[in-house]
Amino acid sequence: MKFNNLIVKDLSEHLRLITINRPRQLNALNRELIRELHDALEEAEKDPGIRAVILMGSGDKAFIAGADIKEFMHFTPEEGEQLSREGQQLLFDYVEQMGTPVIAAINGYALGGGLELALAAHIRIASEKARMGLPEVSLGVIPGYGGTQRLAQHIGKGRAMEMILTGKMIDARRAYDYGLVSEVTPHEKLLDVAVETAEAIMKNSPSAIALAIRAINSAYGRDGFKVESRLFGQAFATEDFKEGTTAFVEKRKPRFTGK
Ligand code: CAA
Repeated sequence: MKFNNLIVKDLSEHLRLITINRPRQLNALNRELIRELHDALEEAEKDPGIRAVILMGSGDKAFIAGADIKEFMHFTPEEGEQLSREGQQLLFDYVEQMGTPVIAAINGYALGGGLELALAAHIRIASEKARMGLPEVSLGVIPGYGGTQRLAQHIGKGRAMEMILTGKMIDARRAYDYGLVSEVTPHEKLLDVAVETAEAIMKNSPSAIALAIRAINSAYGRDGFKVESRLFGQAFATEDFKEGTTAFVEKRKPRFTGK
């Protein structure tokens, strides 16, 4: 398959690396990229020869800096809700439910939809340069790709509440302390460590791994994701959303009124 925004490379017989390649926009997730990631992951999932996938961002700065703000800033509430629902189904839920394990190698900023993608992956490893956060409320919106649900699943409700309400970024060490990532590596060693982890997984039975992922996922309910999409859309009707997204594009601080 040919992709405009991805580089797909097999690192060994059973291990595939998918690099998100939109570095000038810090790998921000637009609709085309979401569709391409789905297609590339589906191709890996359906290939019995592929036993693990590593996801990484291109460039030295970002894993993924979020959903593409410039793409959605003029959407209606209905379009906002649809963006969230479709993205969740096509990419975020899809990754989580894959039988082929996916490792997020977080090489820089993982913000908004970028952290949400890492949260949907089965394992997260971070470079010491990584910065993670869900800054959506600073734009007048909320996380819409499962972040309100999965962040709390990974690090607990209290810390998730703090990260989402402050919108602040945390560094890799704090992410490790929170249990958000399982390992922190020197920046230049990140891919090697992700490969070592993949190799440890690939020694085991692929069918048992797929069953283990299903069993672990079965503990978590689905209702909250629908609520998140609805409320994500609701935010698009507010003046704060217009102000927050416009301020981002104009590179200034927003002036929120609560309307
Ligand atoms: N969407 C669209 N474009 C983005 C982007 C995003 N999420 N993040 C960065 N970019 C673009 C910038 O607009 C800029 O483009 P121009 O050169 O054309 O102006 C380019 O990438 C480089 O970014 P900066 O100049 O801002 O780089 P910086 O080093 O000064 O700052 C940053 C880096 C702190 C990551 C900053 O870019 C930033 O805050 N980005 C937005 C992060 C964010 O709010 N993410 C959440 C998005 S909303 C979301 O994800 C919703 C959801 O859950 C569904």
